Amino acid sequence: MKSKELRKKYLDFFEKRDHAIIPSASLIPENDPSILFTNSGMSPLVPYLLGEKHPEGTRLANTQKSFRAEDIEEVGDSRHTTFFEMLGNWSLSDYFKKEQLNWWFEFLVEELKLDPNRLYQTVYAGSEFAPRDNESIEILKEIYAKYGVVAEEGPQTLGKGEEGPGVEIDFTRYRIFAYKDKNWWQRGDAVGELGGPDSETFYDTGRPHDPKFGPHCHLNCDCGRFIEIGNSVFMQYQRTKDGWCELKNKNVDFGGGLERLVMITEGKNSIFETDLFKDIISKIKELSGLKYNDNKKAFEIIADHLKAASFIMGDDKGIAPSNVDQGYIVRRLIRRAVRYGRQIGIEKIGWTPYIAEAVLGIYGEIYPELERNFDFIKDNLEKEETKFARTLEKGLKELEKISSSKDIDGKTAFDLYQTYGFPLEMTEEELAKKGKKIVDKEGFKEAMKRHQELSRTAAAGKFKGGLADHSEETTKLHTAAHLLLAALRKVLGDHVVQKGSNITAERLRFDFSHPKKLTEEEKKKVEDLVNKAIQNDLPVTFEEMALEEAKKRGAIGVFESRYGKKVKVYKIGKDDNIFSYEICGGPHVERTGILGNFKITKEKSSGAGTRRIKAVLE
Ligand code: SER
Repeated sequence: MKSKELRKKYLDFFEKRDHAIIPSASLIPENDPSILFTNSGMSPLVPYLLGEKHPEGTRLANTQKSFRAEDIEEVGDSRHTTFFEMLGNWSLSDYFKKEQLNWWFEFLVEELKLDPNRLYQTVYAGSEFAPRDNESIEILKEIYAKYGVVAEEGPQTLGKGEEGPGVEIDFTRYRIFAYKDKNWWQRGDAVGELGGPDSETFYDTGRPHDPKFGPHCHLNCDCGRFIEIGNSVFMQYQRTKDGWCELKNKNVDFGGGLERLVMITEGKNSIFETDLFKDIISKIKELSGLKYNDNKKAFEIIADHLKAASFIMGDDKGIAPSNVDQGYIVRRLIRRAVRYGRQIGIEKIGWTPYIAEAVLGIYGEIYPELERNFDFIKDNLEKEETKFARTLEKGLKELEKISSSKDIDGKTAFDLYQTYGFPLEMTEEELAKKGKKIVDKEGFKEAMKRHQELSRTAAAGKFKGGLADHSEETTKLHTAAHLLLAALRKVLGDHVVQKGSNITAERLRFDFSHPKKLTEEEKKKVEDLVNKAIQNDLPVTFEEMALEEAKKRGAIGVFESRYGKKVKVYKIGKDDNIFSYEICGGPHVERTGILGNFKITKEKSSGAGTRRIKAVLE
């Protein structure tokens, strides 16, 4: 089944079951400082899972563009990518386990025609803060029985990385398995985070077990026999300072892997052979003159990384390669792809935009932002390739110098990797051309291990920080951001639109379109207007309406929306004295009076035609 058909089938299936189909949120999160990228469909929905009313109701579904930098090293095994599309459906305190598990199986078996004998399921084994999920086990047994499949609960397995189940499992009889750590889903550990027991679905590819990954195969084994295709999270706990506590809301958060389901339904062995990658792989083949099957790892890394980089740069937020935050990740993705390109003989500079063209061909219709931003994507790919080529050249000269009369050691090889991005294989190849070698490869590996441990520690802070902060301070600053945008438009003009925002409990950061630096006088006027609105203690209210209606009434905000029908419009002010009228999901404070004093702490450029303001409430 082609990806387009599968995407549509999924959304139609849930639309028929009264779900509103909502658009994919941006890959660059709004108002969520805890993550650099949207990494699942639930991330933009955290406020609603916590109880905020969603304008489209209590049943939602979509496909969400997602990116996980932490999977970068996994790419190359034919089933991992950093960028992926997540199929998602949610119950906001509406239906629960029974509907969710029944519908998901119905979708897999009756719509996608998967053989139920190949489907396996894990459930939560329980812990001191949440009970074992016997309810799901009973529901699953009934579902399997409905399809005439024998399904008993198998031996409990501690989790991945452990030795495994300790016995040979009879997979013709056992289909439901309780795991502990593997079946508790949470975004992070911070107070306020959401979590809950989950139930993952695995598909049996029929591949024989590889004993390299442990003596006995089990569902979470890494050998590749079983692949995870979906995860039903029963999102009903919240982290407090005393541990996990039950929420009032019994939510469902489901996420499924589009790429993997397409692979299975297209009958392929690798997601890189599906229509979501085919044209990209053909392009790499054309550029290198080599075959995918003989160079899988390099082909997969190039295809995944350049697709991800194209999506991140193509996301209306103007993210370009740089040394910080999202820009740093884009830089890493491009450079890593270029390095692997060299390895398979692609050396002529300026090839990466061809891959972006293939990406556009595959996704342009579904994600029109790629087309809108295509020149930006191409320009930045070209620039980054050129910059990196210069670094590589310098590195080659350095290598020439240090190896002119002798072999080099592993530590030196690692320094070349660190400074110039030379992977071990590349250094070896260059040395071999001159009859030289690396004397101790172990030295390289040791230095690399030390380096990875260090960067893991650093990355843990960045990617797993977790907290979707909905504290009162953050909410206040969110309301202040609405006042700020309205004031900027009053002072500078209607050309001012929001380009992005990032709000923590300490400050707000706000990007907007404006061609030049604000004068001291303009800044002062903006501050005064905001503070006046605060002193007037204006009420903050919202109404739900159709997007068209919101536009007609002059609401400002992000209008791009593919499926979205109803939106929330926040109004600050009353009667005919309306200060701000903006499309937004919330949350906000109830009156402006509690905000305190608004102060702009910084105003600077943030790319061509965009300014950035940092501000605080005192
Ligand atoms: N949040 C869950 C996941 O990312 C399900 O959507 O797997």
